[in-house]
Amino acid sequence: PAPLGDLAKKHHRYFGSAVDGPGFADPAYLKLLGSEFGQLTPANAMKWYATEPERGVFDFTAADQVVSFARAHHQKVRGHTLLWHNQLPAWLTEGTWTAGELRAVLKNHIQTVVRHHKGRIMHWDVVNEAFEEDGTYRESLFYKTLGPGYIADALRWAHEADPHAKLYLNDYNVDGIGPKSDAYHRLIKQLKADGVPVDGFGIQGHLALQYGFPADVRQNMQRFADLGVEVAVTELDIRMRLPATPEKLATQATWYADYVEACLAVEKCVGVTVWDYTDKYSWIPGVFPDEGAALPYDEHLRPKPAYHAAKAVLGG
Ligand code: G3I
Repeated sequence: PAPLGDLAKKHHRYFGSAVDGPGFADPAYLKLLGSEFGQLTPANAMKWYATEPERGVFDFTAADQVVSFARAHHQKVRGHTLLWHNQLPAWLTEGTWTAGELRAVLKNHIQTVVRHHKGRIMHWDVVNEAFEEDGTYRESLFYKTLGPGYIADALRWAHEADPHAKLYLNDYNVDGIGPKSDAYHRLIKQLKADGVPVDGFGIQGHLALQYGFPADVRQNMQRFADLGVEVAVTELDIRMRLPATPEKLATQATWYADYVEACLAVEKCVGVTVWDYTDKYSWIPGVFPDEGAALPYDEHLRPKPAYHAAKAVLGG
């Protein structure tokens, strides 16, 4: 049977998975990771706390592990993420910074990380989760110190360091049309008008059965495509209240199929990444204690109905 990644390729898309540290010690997991998927995203390894744990001291050990595995298995890599308000090192969050100092710290961080991986990263999530639900700017350290211009600056610095990498803005709860996705639509339109290098909009796609399937996913993707940027589904998972039942798993399967189908229907939707592929390594139970079973493989690495449904949409 053809792997998801190969099937997606026939549609000029990729189908990928996030991967994190524990998976690298799990041979059965790695076998599937290397054979089933055409793209990898490090779940944590490229975040600021991991890559620059002390000011000016960079550590690419974990990031390089992902990139080497991907190269050995002919997989594309999405770089995640250069600027995010979470998982920042203490020296950064606990420091007091003038705007000038923080700009220099940001530029050095972005350019050192991007240069290190130059030529090996297909997409960079340059800024992650910049907006609140109502479409106002998130009051991150970056925003509070530098104002909204930090986003354009970050994109320009990343572009300088690797002109061939496609540069993305990425967020959750932007699947459908609403205040938060509207804010990205306005921002990307403005960035394009200003000649700022922005190439893509990343829709994370963290869904939950109890909240319903988001409306207008395809229309939302299309309106970003119409601005001249790509769209990618970057962190797809569909959680449910536990225990998982056959009914819930069946609903989940149709949602996976519907999401993949939306991507295939929009020419500029370039691929889908699941936020790890097995329930064994999902982030969900750690954050939502009574929820889980969000991924296409169960905790024993057995494919679930969601896997078969996604595959069927891809023609497999
Ligand atoms: O590394 C420490 C380890 O030393 C310690 O023993 C352990 C005990 O809690 O924690 C470990 O750190 C954890 C880290 O993942 C690495 O495993 C953190 O507690 C945990 O909070 C962190 O969670 C990550 C989360 O981002 C942080 O917000 C998830 O793995 C990661 O999948 C998740 O990914 C995010 C995307 O980057 C952005 N979009 C949402 C998505 C899901 O939250």
